[in-house]
Amino acid sequence: MISGCCRIWDSLTDPMEPNELYSIRMRASLRGEHISGAERIVSQGQLERTVQELLQRARQKAEKPDHIVVKLDEIRTAELNMLTALDIVTVNVSDVITARSLASRILEKIGVSGIAVERAINALGSGAAAGKNMRGAMIMDARSGERLETDEKRGVRVSRFDWTDAALVTSINSLEDIGLTHHRTREALALATKVAHAPALVAELCWSDDPDYTAGYVASLGTGYVRFPMLKKRNDPYGGRVFFVDRSRVDLAVLYRYFQTEAVLINGIGRCRPALEPADYFA
Ligand code: COA
Ligand code: AMP
Repeated sequence: MISGCCRIWDSLTDPMEPNELYSIRMRASLRGEHISGAERIVSQGQLERTVQELLQRARQKAEKPDHIVVKLDEIRTAELNMLTALDIVTVNVSDVITARSLASRILEKIGVSGIAVERAINALGSGAAAGKNMRGAMIMDARSGERLETDEKRGVRVSRFDWTDAALVTSINSLEDIGLTHHRTREALALATKVAHAPALVAELCWSDDPDYTAGYVASLGTGYVRFPMLKKRNDPYGGRVFFVDRSRVDLAVLYRYFQTEAVLINGIGRCRPALEPADYFA
């Protein structure tokens, strides 16, 4: 469950006023195919600048979008979930088979069954939406491996999360200190932090569908964010996310609402450890 829930004005170091926060979400597509998306939660005074930054982000892609949507929504509630980011570590493994096997080992250690892990890896590796990449994440019974999302092509998308201004700066610096400079890592860490705090969530497994981006991770409250530089081969177009849940406790409506609409601000970075060799990680 949400462990860090509190009133925003009690815990933010940034001078944000309650009821003055906005969710800004950008998505860009080309010929109907999604090519990029990003989002922020900012105060009223940062709206114009943030819209510009997100537009710039959409235009920076090598593939130029022919359709860009930017949406703004006031975050009405005076209560936000304030969370500290998961701890992060990289396990240095340079081949995909070993990396997937170590990722499986971690998942099994924290309560995901062997069959669920196998189903998740097979689905991610071959296009979980009937041979194509999903538009969101799978929700999987951590014991049986049964898929529980209501639409197997869409899945569920996690939205309305961001770092506070102060935590954003700290996270950029702390991740840089351990050699992680790609904005994807910071964004994935934020997403994984929101996911790990979801009700009945056991663990997450992710690797990107971007053929040029081979890194992926296993994440949970217990393990933190465990990153692998090669969870898939370069030029492999398949990827996605799997959220493993404890089926005996899960309420899908509550879970969807949490992922899609409950706002989360991350106001602190967890422990950022330098990369470890597998033997040291498992010692
Ligand atoms: N892949 C494919 N299609 C997508 C998509 C994605 N990742 N995100 C949005 N779309 C398309 C879909 O057609 C979707 O319709 P659907 O709900 O039937 O699937 C449509 O756009 C509208 O999506 P919606 O989620 O309502 O848009 P939004 O403007 O509210 O938010 C995003 C869009 C991309 C900002 C949000 O979904 C998201 O992914 N936020 C997280 C971004 C992030 O930080 N990711 C980190 C990854 S490392
Ligand atoms: P990315 O990390 O952007 O490369 O996305 C990898 C995969 O994660 C996509 O193919 C989707 O299946 C899934 N995904 C993308 N955005 C989200 C999101 N906001 N929430 C959950 N899953 C997502």
